[in-house]
Amino acid sequence: MNAPLAVKPVPSPPYWLLAELTYRCPLHCAFCYNPVNYTAVRNELSTAEWFTVMQQARALGAVQLGFSGGEPLLRDDLEELVTEAHRLGFYTNLITSGVGLTEARIKALKDAGLDHIQLSFQDSTKELNDFLSSTKTFDLKKKVAALIKQYDYPMVLNCVLHRHNLPHVDKIIEMALALDAEYLELANTQYYGWAMKNRDQLMPTREQLREAEEVVATYRARIGKRCKILFVIPDYFEDRPKACMNGWGSVFLGVAPDGVALPCHNARDLPGLSLPNVRAMSMQEIWYDSSAFNKYRGDDWMQEPCRSCPEKAKDFGGCRCQALMLAGDAAATDPVCAKSPLRERVDQIIFHAANRTVPAAVAEQPIIFRTDSNSRILAS
Ligand code: FES
Repeated sequence: MNAPLAVKPVPSPPYWLLAELTYRCPLHCAFCYNPVNYTAVRNELSTAEWFTVMQQARALGAVQLGFSGGEPLLRDDLEELVTEAHRLGFYTNLITSGVGLTEARIKALKDAGLDHIQLSFQDSTKELNDFLSSTKTFDLKKKVAALIKQYDYPMVLNCVLHRHNLPHVDKIIEMALALDAEYLELANTQYYGWAMKNRDQLMPTREQLREAEEVVATYRARIGKRCKILFVIPDYFEDRPKACMNGWGSVFLGVAPDGVALPCHNARDLPGLSLPNVRAMSMQEIWYDSSAFNKYRGDDWMQEPCRSCPEKAKDFGGCRCQALMLAGDAAATDPVCAKSPLRERVDQIIFHAANRTVPAAVAEQPIIFRTDSNSRILAS
């Protein structure tokens, strides 16, 4: 009698659709997670094509829809897209730098049914905010924050942390409180995209992180429920990997500006992955049948020590993109895991950061800002 064939469980429907409407952005952040060769991505999806994407994703079961980029406000049809998303029953979130969010547009977005806005700051000081984004946007962001309040949205601020602004965590929290924020996301830089190019410039020390965590704990105790503060440390400083995307092909379905469907934010960088495009395949086919979305589902692809690890159902072996960058193999155990034979590489990177001073590091290698010309240079 033949042995029964192993049956792969059918994946659950996607929960979260991320619509990366454009890679165009007025900011030039040194830690942007967009692909460094974003200038090679052209031919953005039309309004009608995004309607089809949203309709198919909703029919599949997705309920949450993030509009991001780049800067999604650079799309003139954002209000139309939000109207359609609202009609379909999505919970909608706009992830924005604030540039372009005039009173006319926030009113139109409110009328269209937009549920939620997340506004990014780069720092609590005008100098560093404007330096890190290579723009003069700090004052404008404060005006946008006031508009968000005026239009009765919950105030959700996000500030990406790194060695340059970690010593300002108290000031960043004070700024959030002064702006009456209900949520403050203090997410340390993770090293992908432009941040990977600037890793030596951005990597904090353990001491900086410890001090910042203490500051956050003090504020949490003092302010209670007035503002919820989320503090996420860099993966490199954890001893277990994150459950990236909550598991590959499990809840997240991203669509890039040119229609490429993404199982994770950085999937474009994974070699040998044939990424489907919404112009050629339905969302149903992409989610259930495409080789890219099936590639790291389940645990058949895992190597040791993940394969026999009792924690594999919790962290899914970590992040495939981080494994590629640190181990040179996307199917390896994420080297941030203390069980990885390559953990030492991560410790060396941290050690290197801890034994340099910020001014010396800055002097040694200038920050590479996210600009079109840098993108073309890095892509060539
Ligand atoms: Fe690609 Fe984590 S960002 S798997």
